[in-house]
Amino acid sequence: MRRQELERVAYDILLGNLRRGTAEWNGQDYSFVVPSLTGYPFQWFWDSCFHAIALTHIDHDQAKSELDTLMSAALPNGFIPHIIFWESEKRDYFLDQNLVATINPNFSCTIQPPILAYAVERVYQATSDEAFRERSLPVLVNYYRWLKENRDPDNDGLLSIIQPEEAGTDCSPKYDEILGLTDLSNQGFIKALNKIYSAYELIRSDDLRMLDANVFHVEDVLVNSIYALSLQSLARLLGNTPESIIFQDEASRTIESLLNKCWDAGTEAFLDLNGVQEIPNSMVTISSLMPIILQDIPSDKVKRLVDKWIISEDQFWLPYPLPSVPASNPKFMPGNPQGFIWRGPSWINTNWFITKGLRLHGYHQLADDISSKSLACVEQSGFREYYNPYTGEGLGAKNFGWSTLILDM
Ligand code: GLC
Repeated sequence: MRRQELERVAYDILLGNLRRGTAEWNGQDYSFVVPSLTGYPFQWFWDSCFHAIALTHIDHDQAKSELDTLMSAALPNGFIPHIIFWESEKRDYFLDQNLVATINPNFSCTIQPPILAYAVERVYQATSDEAFRERSLPVLVNYYRWLKENRDPDNDGLLSIIQPEEAGTDCSPKYDEILGLTDLSNQGFIKALNKIYSAYELIRSDDLRMLDANVFHVEDVLVNSIYALSLQSLARLLGNTPESIIFQDEASRTIESLLNKCWDAGTEAFLDLNGVQEIPNSMVTISSLMPIILQDIPSDKVKRLVDKWIISEDQFWLPYPLPSVPASNPKFMPGNPQGFIWRGPSWINTNWFITKGLRLHGYHQLADDISSKSLACVEQSGFREYYNPYTGEGLGAKNFGWSTLILDM
């Protein structure tokens, strides 16, 4: 497909998923792209950041509106929710399943991978719009301060999450053990999630207490790689200011802890740390490769990730890479897992991250190969939520917003 044609079809998807209006519950205007009209008809935190990045290639105004809308949902304390139900008539969609812990029926009280500052930087670079940068900065500073103060109880630079959806990789098998998941299905997962929420019932508005309860407390590699990347963006956006140094230092601490605490020399990959006891989770998944997006990861470690994991046909190098779980994992499910996601299929957003990281570390050919195979999935099957890593067959939601990230690859 030619570039122009690809941009046209991607734009059709994004415009088709666009929601504009005024929220009844707070009187605020909104203008954003839903991940998919069927299945995901709300605003999701990291999806919106991906949509904005894709939109930098086709519609600068909408790229800004997407992030302005997301940032307009920030609470006075800095927190920004993982889902915002702008259209209140639809908000019961998830609440009856108690899937989204909430203190207010209009948004979730959970987070998602904090890629916002990186997305703001990309939109700022594309538009050179100073007013956009200036109005974003206070929101970003408050948000990253909130994360630091509420999600890093042991002060090691690594954020902790309180439930698996906060990492955006919801049903990844790496969480099975800590969730006590034995019914390996989406229904089983929802039950396990509800159990966590019951444990949080009386402490939902207090993140540090939820983490202290040690019910689900994970220092997740994907979340923290994105955190460090975004802190570096925030430091650059802040320019030559004392605050910029604070966020740059925080990024360095996060990277240091990823290297010192999460890198496992035997596995030769980065592993999550489970519980307040920080027990390494021995399961390698796509998130174990994510620190590659950081410039500061030493080249010998990047090389081990590439040689042992990414280009190994027993692991991630399948015909349509990169699967969310390596093929050697006994729990690997390459086909349609009926909502039991992140257990095998390949996703465009993780391929986007990994190709960015590979280019950063000089692996241009490999990044090109992954990009071409991702494009082949889109050409063959349209913009789907994820793809079968053996056949490229499109799976999950249709007309899925963040698969338009292919424009940025
Ligand atoms: C699923 C994904 C999550 C995404 C959401 C909306 O829950 O796991 O990462 O943000 O769908 O697309």
